[in-house]
Amino acid sequence: MKPKLIKTSKEMSEIRNRISSKIAFVPTMGSLHQGHLSLVDTAIEKAEVVIVSIYVNPTQFSIDEDLTEYPRDLDKDIKLLKEHQVDYVFFPDDEQMYPQGFKTWVDVEDITQILCGKTRPTHFRGVTTIVSKLLNIINPDLIFLGEKDFQQLAVIKQMVSDLNFQTEVIGCPIVREFDGLALSSRNKYLTAEGRKRALCLYKSLLLAQNLFRGGMVNSNKIISQMSNLIVNAACVIDYIEVFDPFSFEHLPELSPGCRIALAVIVDNTRLIDNIEIR
Ligand code: PAJ
Repeated sequence: MKPKLIKTSKEMSEIRNRISSKIAFVPTMGSLHQGHLSLVDTAIEKAEVVIVSIYVNPTQFSIDEDLTEYPRDLDKDIKLLKEHQVDYVFFPDDEQMYPQGFKTWVDVEDITQILCGKTRPTHFRGVTTIVSKLLNIINPDLIFLGEKDFQQLAVIKQMVSDLNFQTEVIGCPIVREFDGLALSSRNKYLTAEGRKRALCLYKSLLLAQNLFRGGMVNSNKIISQMSNLIVNAACVIDYIEVFDPFSFEHLPELSPGCRIALAVIVDNTRLIDNIEIR
């Protein structure tokens, strides 16, 4: 009966090695929502076999972050993945992923130190290490990642290319709530009142888009108006950045195709979002 549940790396690799058809892989930290499920649905369209991993990876959280509070609901996740006709769910534990004596890290330079990497300096090292391990265990033809984490997507693309992983990275669009808030497992931390103020992320991105369409191109001026909107919603800005989506270089002026990304703290919850300027 689908999905088959797999706990150990050994069993996962053995099963993988018996599959000769095209495999799509969707890595997650669980607490699944429509954002994750949109990746799953796209994966199902593109491959014969779909494997989803659920693992709250401790090494991508720093000591002062929300590892212990991070929402976990494995039974509900499995029920959702069953409804979406996923073939395999790999949910290893810490002992499987980081056994005693673990010493090896995968670290992508430069693009991991900007944007989210400034305030979370060891975050991407944790992400690239766990994704490398999962890619080695599962060896999928395709891996699906969301543009919600636009920097993570770029970092993983870089790693897959640099380390010759035999997988194709496919980025999928951001799924939003009815009012524009990007879906995130961390939205669960928000109070009803905080949830309303959290809309300032998307509203500020739309403001940038509208200012650009009205003829304003200066990044600093646009960032300043976005900042006002966010501060007026009593939220704290971690960063707002206008950059080239491939090189991640800062752009002093907006142009079609550039990205704006931001991280904002709403009460105690850090949220991220981004938009492609058109
Ligand atoms: P997690 O936050 O669970 O996200 C898993 C995947 O779902 C990521 O590729 C993320 O970009 C995507 N996703 C989340 N919210 C989305 C939304 N609103 N729209 C579209 N896609 C969305 O990202 C991670 O886990 C981890 O870092 C992981 C890659 C699993 C490594 O531990």
